[in-house]
Amino acid sequence: MTQAAINVAYLAASACFIVGLKLLSSVRTARAGNLVGAVGMLVAVAATLLDRRVVDWPPVVAGLVAGSLAGTLLAVRTPMTGMPQMVGLLNGFGGAASALVASAELLRAVEGRALPGAPVAVAIAASLLVGWITLTGSLVAFAKLQEFLPGRPLPLPFQKTVNALLALAGLGLAAWLAARPDASAAFWGLSAVALVLGVTLVNPIGGADMPVVISLLNSYSGLAACATGFALGNSALIVTGALVGASGFILTRVMCRAMNRSLANVMFAAVGTGGGTAAAAAAGRQARAFGAEDVALAFDAARRVVVVPGYGMAVAQAQHVVKELADLLAKKNIDVRYAVHPVAGRMPGHMNVLLAEAGVPYDQLLELDDANALLPETDVALVVGANDITNPAARTDRSSPIYGMPILDVDRARCVVFCKRSLGSGFAGVDNPLFFNPATMMFLGDAKESLKSLVAELKK
Ligand code: TAP
Repeated sequence: MTQAAINVAYLAASACFIVGLKLLSSVRTARAGNLVGAVGMLVAVAATLLDRRVVDWPPVVAGLVAGSLAGTLLAVRTPMTGMPQMVGLLNGFGGAASALVASAELLRAVEGRALPGAPVAVAIAASLLVGWITLTGSLVAFAKLQEFLPGRPLPLPFQKTVNALLALAGLGLAAWLAARPDASAAFWGLSAVALVLGVTLVNPIGGADMPVVISLLNSYSGLAACATGFALGNSALIVTGALVGASGFILTRVMCRAMNRSLANVMFAAVGTGGGTAAAAAAGRQARAFGAEDVALAFDAARRVVVVPGYGMAVAQAQHVVKELADLLAKKNIDVRYAVHPVAGRMPGHMNVLLAEAGVPYDQLLELDDANALLPETDVALVVGANDITNPAARTDRSSPIYGMPILDVDRARCVVFCKRSLGSGFAGVDNPLFFNPATMMFLGDAKESLKSLVAELKK
C-alpha cells in the first residue's frame, strides 16, 4: 500500500471517529455512533498493518489474537456495574501502550545512533510522562472501585507538597530527556517519577470521585497517544489521541458541573471522608416502611408518576420490571415519565443505557430541569435505587459534601416512594432526610423483587 493510500485511509478513519463522536452525543444515535467509530478503528488498524514499514508479522498477529481474546472475555464477563473500573483499566493500558511505543522509538533511535530531533524528543518525553501517570493512576482508580483498596481518600502527610515536588521533578526530567535523548538516567528517572506520581495523585481522592478521575485519566491517555503519534509521525494516532484527550476533558467538566464541583475540588479536596449534618437532622425521627399492598394503593390513586432511577436500579438489574410497571400504569391511563439525573448511577449515561435496554421510549425520558418543572404536578415520584440525586440536603445543608449539587426535586411531588434496601446512604456517604418526610413511603427491599411484588399487586 502506498503512503498516499495509507494517508487517505487514515483520513477516512479520522472522519469516522469525528462522526462517531457526534452520533454518540444522543441516545437515539449512540449505537450507530459506536459502530461508525469501530469501523474507523478497523480502517486505521488495517491501514497500519498494510504499511510496508510494519515488517514483523508474528508479534503483530500474536498481539491481535491475545488482545482480542482478553478484550472479548473482559467485555462478556464484566457486569454493567463494573463498567467504570473496566474503563479505568483500559485507560491505564492505553497510557502504558503509548509510553511503551515512545520508549521503543527512543531506544531504537539511540541504538541506531540517529538521535531524534527536538520536536520528536519533546513528544517522546511527554508521552512517557503522561502515559506512565495514566497507567498507575488508572490502576489505583480501578483498585478503589473494585474494593481492592479502601475507597476513602488516603492522603499521606504533606501529600500536596510531595505531589508538587514530584510534578516538578517529572517536568525537569522530561526537559532533560528532550534536550539529551541519549541520557539513560533521564529516561529511567522520568519513567519512575511518572509511575509514582500516578499513584500519589489518585490515592488521596475518594472512591466517590473515581468516575471523574477515570474520565480525566481517559483524557490523559488520549494526550499520551497524541504525543506518541507525533513521535512516530502517525497522523491517525495524532487525531485519535487529540479526540480522546478533548472528549475526555469535556466529559470531566460536564461531570464536575453536574455535581456542582470544580475539578480542583475533586482532585485535591479529599471529599468522601464523612457526612454532613443530615444524620443529626434525621436523628430520632422515624421513617415509615410500607408493603406492596399499600404502595399499590398510592399508584391506584395517581394520575402522573415520575420514575427516578439510580445506581440501585443498575445493581438490582430492575430496569425491565420498571418498564413492566410503567406499561401497567399506562394501561390504567396514568402518565409515566422517567427523570434522568446527569450523574445518576456511576458513569455518564448509565441510566439511559439501562432504560434503553429495557425498551423505554426516549420521549418518556426527562432531563433534570424538565423533570423538576413536572415534579410539583406529580402524584407519585417512584425513586428506584437512587439516593444522593434526590437528597434535599444538597439544597440546604452547607456542611454536606453534596451541597450545591442540582438534585431532582422529588420532595415536591405529592408522595415519594423510595425503593431501596435500607435507610443506608448512597455514593457520597450522607444521610437523606427525605426518608423521614411524612409524604415519603419507604418500600424496602431489593428493587427488582420489590417492584415485582408491586406489579403483582397492581395486577390483582
Ligand atoms: P447513590 O446515591 O449511590 O444511591 C444508590 C442507592 O441504591 C443506595 O443508597 C442503595 O441503598 C441503593 N441500592 C443499592 N443496591 C440496591 C438494590 N439491589 N436494590 C435497591 N436499592 C439498591 O446513587 P444515585 O442516587 O444514582 O447517585 C449517584 C451518585 O454517584 C452521586 O453521588 C453522584 O455524584 C455519584 N457519581 C456519579 C457519577 C456518574 S457520571 N454517574 C460520577 C461520579 C460520581 P441501599 O443500600 O439502602 O439499598
